[in-house]
Amino acid sequence: MRSKIPSFIMIPSSLSVIIFMFYVFFRSYNYISYLTHPITVSFFIIITILLCILECVNNLIFKEKLQFLTEEEKRKIFEENEGNYFYRFYRFIFHNPKKMNNGVKKIDHGFDGIIELDNKLPMWWVHLFYLTIVFSVIYFFSYLFMDFSNPYKEYNIAYKNQLKKIEIFEKNTPQATIENAVFNKNLINSGKTLFVENCATCHQSDGSGNIGPNLTDDYWINIKEKDLFKNIFSIIWNGSDNNPTMRDFGKSGEIKGNDIEKISSYVYFINQYSKKPLTYKGAQGKKIIEWRKI
Ligand code: HEC
Repeated sequence: MRSKIPSFIMIPSSLSVIIFMFYVFFRSYNYISYLTHPITVSFFIIITILLCILECVNNLIFKEKLQFLTEEEKRKIFEENEGNYFYRFYRFIFHNPKKMNNGVKKIDHGFDGIIELDNKLPMWWVHLFYLTIVFSVIYFFSYLFMDFSNPYKEYNIAYKNQLKKIEIFEKNTPQATIENAVFNKNLINSGKTLFVENCATCHQSDGSGNIGPNLTDDYWINIKEKDLFKNIFSIIWNGSDNNPTMRDFGKSGEIKGNDIEKISSYVYFINQYSKKPLTYKGAQGKKIIEWRKI
C-alpha cells in the first residue's frame, strides 16, 4: 500500500523537526542568532529544495510503476487513495470503521467458552508509542552530552549569568564617596542589617560598645571631619589611625561605598535620633555636641 503524505505537509513538518532539534541542542547558547545566521538559513533553503526534488522523483517513480501494475492492483491503489489527504489520514490512524472487524484474530479460551477478539491496536496509539521511544533516545543523549535539561549544568549557567549581571550592575552604579555621601533616613534599615553583619561583634548591634567604643554617645576618639555623618563615613572608610582593630573597611574594598553610606546612616541615626541603650561602654575620647563648630 502506498500511503502518501502530500508535500505541503511533509516539507514543513520535516523542517520543523530539524528546527526543534536545533533548539534542543543549542538552547543554552544564543540559538536565535544561530538560527538566523546566513549559513543556517542557506542550509534550510537547500534542505527545502532537496525535499522538493525528492518529492518529484518519488512521484515519477510512482507513475512509472503504475504502468507495470495489473488493472486489479491499480483499482486497489486508487481506492486506497480516494478522498483528500486528511480523510485518508483519519482512516489511517483510526482504521477504517467499515473494515474494523475484518481480519480480527479470535482467541478461543476453550475452557470457559469465551472468545476473545484480538483487535489490532489503533495506529494513533502505536505511533504515539514509537514517538515516545524516539523522544527518549533524543532526550537521553542530549541529557548526557549537552547542557539540555541537566539541572547541574543549568544551575551553573544561571549562576554564572547572575554573577555577570551583578558585576555589570556594580560597574555601572556609582559608589558613594566621602564627598557625596549624605545621611538618608531610607537607608537606616538596610544599614542596620549591614551593621549587625559587619560591626556588631565589636560595637554591639545597638552600637552600645564592646571591644570598640560606644557609638551612641557624644564622645569621639577619632575626629577627622567637621560633620558628624562625614566623620563616621570617614572612619569606616579609612579605619582608625591609632588602633588597627578598627580596620579600613572602605579602602581595603571589604565594604563598598554605597553600603558604607547605609551603615553610616544607621550609626548617625542611633547617635542622633534613637533612644540611648540602657547599658553602654563608658565614655572614650572628646565630648563634642555641636560638630560644625569645631
Ligand atoms: C574588630 C573589631 C571592630 C569591628 C569589626 C569594627 N570596629 Fe569600629 N572600632 C573598633 C575599635 C577598637 C575602635 C576604636 C578605634 C580607636 O581607638 O581609634 C573603633 C572605632 C569606631 C568608630 C569611631 C569611634 C570613635 O569614638 O572614634 C566608629 C564610627 C566605628 N568604629 C564604626 C564601626 C563600624 C560602622 C563598623 C562596621 C563596618 C565597625 N566599626 C567595625 C573596633 C571594631
